Amino acid sequence: MSDDPLRLLRLSGEVDAYPLEPSDAELAASAGLPDERIVRYDLNTLGGGPLPGVREAWRSWDPGRAVEYGDLGYRDLRAAIGRVAGVAPERIVPGAGADELIRLVTTSVAGPGDAVVVPTPTFPMFAVEAGLAGARVVALPRVHPAERQPAAGIRATIEREGARLAWVCSPNNPTGDATPLDEVMAIADGLEAIVVVDQVYLEFATAAGAIGLDAITLQEAAPNVLVLRSLAKAYGLAGARIGYLVVPEALAGRFDAMRLPLAVSIATEVLALGALSDPAAAAERHAAIMREQRRLADALRGLGCEVLDGQGNFATFRPPDARSLASGLMQRGLVVREFPTGPMAGWLRATARAADENERLIDALRELLA
Ligand SMILES: Cc1ncc(COP(=O)(O)O)c(C=O)c1O
Repeated sequence: MSDDPLRLLRLSGEVDAYPLEPSDAELAASAGLPDERIVRYDLNTLGGGPLPGVREAWRSWDPGRAVEYGDLGYRDLRAAIGRVAGVAPERIVPGAGADELIRLVTTSVAGPGDAVVVPTPTFPMFAVEAGLAGARVVALPRVHPAERQPAAGIRATIEREGARLAWVCSPNNPTGDATPLDEVMAIADGLEAIVVVDQVYLEFATAAGAIGLDAITLQEAAPNVLVLRSLAKAYGLAGARIGYLVVPEALAGRFDAMRLPLAVSIATEVLALGALSDPAAAAERHAAIMREQRRLADALRGLGCEVLDGQGNFATFRPPDARSLASGLMQRGLVVREFPTGPMAGWLRATARAADENERLIDALRELLA
């Protein structure tokens, strides 16, 4: 008998894991640059540094509080999120980033052999978590990155496959387009399955002037709709790891029972309360980032790239040669997202960061694409 302990795990065969991002230090070493030359345009994090309330909250935090466990009920945190999201605190399920909540939803809804419908291209974790749960991923690819799958087709696939779970990412990563609420309803209304709308980029779309995209407003009429949000992107807390799920009233108690008791650390809770303390400062930053997003998209178009009409804090574009452009940028310490295979092959994605960082990227693009 083999003595490989892998055989003892539930999944002992190959698993599709999330591709690990190289660290700044690894990228700097491979480009022969000092660490501080590296700027990450590949992770859709918040340009311009922490929101003012985050620094303030951290300064006034007493690390002595970390000796004790935090509040199991996340009362302050849920109240603060509830205020910005416009939802009752008990319907909020905090977690260690949206990623943890993708796992929570997936394992709560789907098990071995169940179908999970994932319109692609999208955030890879929906499929990764379905695979780890032993579920069957039914990918529904776009015919072109700019063309969202028709809602009727998504619904028909869910019904045909008897899927228990389906994902809608709005605005979608990596294409940036948002799904109007009537399309979400056409997918979810009366469906015998859970539909999760990932809205971790919603604040940017709102700052760009989009209205009527908030899927929380659907939950009363469609109690099979869950909404996933994060403080990683729009609130600048990617490294602190905090996201939240908004569930309909009828599922609040059950999700409260299923979540990890203290996935959000007390230190992260302090940072989150700081980030959420000044909605006007957050909105101002989102507006500034989206002005930069337009500037970056316009510059790319001016340089002959095909650019998707996106509402997230990033521009997705097709240059004449994605591989050589990405490596030219990397030599300058500027890291953009590549899609080596699949439907996005040939496209790149770059985060719109603060004005000075954007300027550096645009200058380099001009040099390389001229
Ligand atoms: C669409 C989408 N959902 C979820 C996440 C994960 O967010 P978090 O950092 O809160 O886990 C990301 C991160 O890139 C994302 O793009």
